[in-house]
Amino acid sequence: MPEIQANNGNSLPYGSEEELGRKLFKKYELGKLLGYGAFAKVYHARELSTSQSVAIKAMGKQRILRGNLTSHVKREISILRRLRHPHIVRLDEVLATKNKIYFVLEFAKGGELFAKIAKGRFSEELSRKYFQQLISAVDYCHSRGVFHRDLKPENLLLDENWDLKITDFGLSAVSDEVQPDGLLHTLCGTPAYVAPEILAKKGYEGAKVDIWSCGIILYVLNAGYLPFNDLNLMAMYRKIYKGIFRCPKWTSPELKRFLTRILDPNPSTRITIHEILDDPWFQKGYKEIKYPIENEIELKNFGQGEEKGFLNAFDIISFSSGFDLSGLFSNNGNRIDGEKVISKEPPEKIIEKIEAAAKEEGLVVAKKGFGVMLQGQNGNFTLMIEINRLTEELMMVEVKSSGLGPLGFDIWTEKFKPLLDSLPEARHIAGN
Ligand code: ADE
Repeated sequence: MPEIQANNGNSLPYGSEEELGRKLFKKYELGKLLGYGAFAKVYHARELSTSQSVAIKAMGKQRILRGNLTSHVKREISILRRLRHPHIVRLDEVLATKNKIYFVLEFAKGGELFAKIAKGRFSEELSRKYFQQLISAVDYCHSRGVFHRDLKPENLLLDENWDLKITDFGLSAVSDEVQPDGLLHTLCGTPAYVAPEILAKKGYEGAKVDIWSCGIILYVLNAGYLPFNDLNLMAMYRKIYKGIFRCPKWTSPELKRFLTRILDPNPSTRITIHEILDDPWFQKGYKEIKYPIENEIELKNFGQGEEKGFLNAFDIISFSSGFDLSGLFSNNGNRIDGEKVISKEPPEKIIEKIEAAAKEEGLVVAKKGFGVMLQGQNGNFTLMIEINRLTEELMMVEVKSSGLGPLGFDIWTEKFKPLLDSLPEARHIAGN
């Protein structure tokens, strides 16, 4: 069963009608439901300041916790934030309320590629174009240790230029899930796209499995139907296991040969991604697809276009132990490094309180954006207090120090630590 189903407009699942028109964080207006699955719903939404379309994937934290999926969601966050490629749906930001997590995703205007195939098969040229885009994105993921493991037409969307966008990494695995034998061991994927080694339940390599799924996708693009299909699930599995399929009569001999190399039931002899990139059928008209290098990603993604002092919630979610954001308040000697407190107090109020306390202690105060720097009268120590907005309501206050002797440390423990503790609904999270 697919993780996210397209909304065919016939019925709206639980609780979705009241979401329409709702504002999220005063930043997005929720539109119609695009799809839903067991743990998530995907909505069309508009960013209010720019009127730009986005897709918002909403997940209930309760459901996530009950389903013991915390690490699953954290993994999805860290996977998505590492991926930046023209044919992969971009993750713009992650927002969190008490009960929900929202992934703000690039909106793929053209909808599902699947819907287009349902209207009729593609020409060999068009099939090649989409396959080249798919392989470029998959190669990009694999070279970063990321395997999708659930590649299928439903996870392939189209943008406004009718170019491919891969979405939904909910079931993907990163290379650290590899067991000592070097193989992945989670059973996942949709039957018709599942590689034979997954059915054999003996562990598998993520890269090989994705290549198999790409082969099925290429077959479907060209044929308009599945290579291994049977109403009886066991019969379908048997066909997959044997790797016996027939190409329709319009398939060129080059494509037929290529498909046979991809849909090889033996993973150790199956074509590799590098061999795919070198194949003459694949190479025809292929222009290497450019993508930004890693350093540019960080700057573009997390520096620009965001409100000053606004930190993406997933930084915190990723670092904290569980969604309750509670943790230990740790000290190392006379040094405060990365102590974090979360509170609902507005940043101006926090700064006001810190300034008043600093005045009482005779400290020198310098304000910098949503931060305050406090110095001892003779410059002997510095306390940096930074405030970042996590969500509309939640602020994170982070404290760092330098040159803090016993006196400075006393000022911290007796004055500023209690001050932060007394902020409305203050909670500590571990520093790093
Ligand atoms: N359905 C699921 N994710 C989507 C996205 N990012 N854009 C458009 N439709 C989607």
